[in-house]
Amino acid sequence: MGRRIIIDTDPGQDDALAILLALASEQALEVAGITTVAGNVQVEQTTVNALRICQLAGRDDLPVHAGCAAPLMRPLHTAEFICGSDGLAGMALPAPRRRANPGHAVNFIVDTLLASDRPLTLCALGPLTNIAMALRLAPGIAGTIDRLVIMGGARDLGNITAAAEFNTFVDPHAAAIVFDAGIPITLFPLSATYQAVASPARLTGFDGSGPVQAQILSMLRRERPGGASLGGGEGHPMHDPCVIAWLLWPDLFEGRDCRVDVETTEGPTVGRTTIDWWGRSGQAPNAHVVGQLDADAMFLRMADAVRTLDVAPTPIRQVT
Ligand code: RIB
Ligand code: CA
Repeated sequence: MGRRIIIDTDPGQDDALAILLALASEQALEVAGITTVAGNVQVEQTTVNALRICQLAGRDDLPVHAGCAAPLMRPLHTAEFICGSDGLAGMALPAPRRRANPGHAVNFIVDTLLASDRPLTLCALGPLTNIAMALRLAPGIAGTIDRLVIMGGARDLGNITAAAEFNTFVDPHAAAIVFDAGIPITLFPLSATYQAVASPARLTGFDGSGPVQAQILSMLRRERPGGASLGGGEGHPMHDPCVIAWLLWPDLFEGRDCRVDVETTEGPTVGRTTIDWWGRSGQAPNAHVVGQLDADAMFLRMADAVRTLDVAPTPIRQVT
């Protein structure tokens, strides 16, 4: 019985690879459901994209619940200039055969956590709006979450502004609530995830022989519209797959426990995470922050994993 997880996401190409990796790893990960949030694109589109990605993996049975359409306090900022108008530039996925499951994502998170016979891991791949709302709606869920694994924040330079990483920039108030909730956190800031660049050499493991790998290769080889200015150099940085890869292969990662704070004041540093890497604050750590990772090994293992979705595709599972 693998680790039970919920993936909260704003697909987004890197979210797509993270979701496919999780769905390809059924021995290790039991995905209880996918919840979508506004981020890379509007929540209507991130929800359609989550359905399209599940459909590609033959998982029309998987619960997908639409979540918050806007951050808690700030206006929504999206990133079509990076991910394309539909959020999945480079992928040619058909429209989903099904609609999202009824019920808001926040209620799905709360209900699933409270009903579960074992603690769950929440994988946060987008702005933290849904998770913060769930904590406000039902504070008692904090005791049912064994860990929050989050892609977000920046130890050094930001990507959407000089100061802030996109997910914490979009909803800094939600991030502040989550980081102060006392839940065990593993955090992947940009200084870690920009090591996971999908360079041509790291794509050799994907053979493109089946529909899943073909879509992944197409997505990873797409032109970088505005992305070149956001770092990553010779390829698209695979921020979100680091979250799932850490759950599967923690030996590929190194980090340290740090205090993390989020700037919520409007201004040039809004959304900035202050990551106390050298422990200068004297404050108790609230997150395990990943510093280094073996990206070459990560890409090889990801390619091996997602190949199973092509080699032995699971029969399309419909909602029973
Ligand atoms: O800053 C990178 C993060 O913002 C990734 O999760 C990407 O998908 C976007 O959500
Ligand atoms: Ca994302």
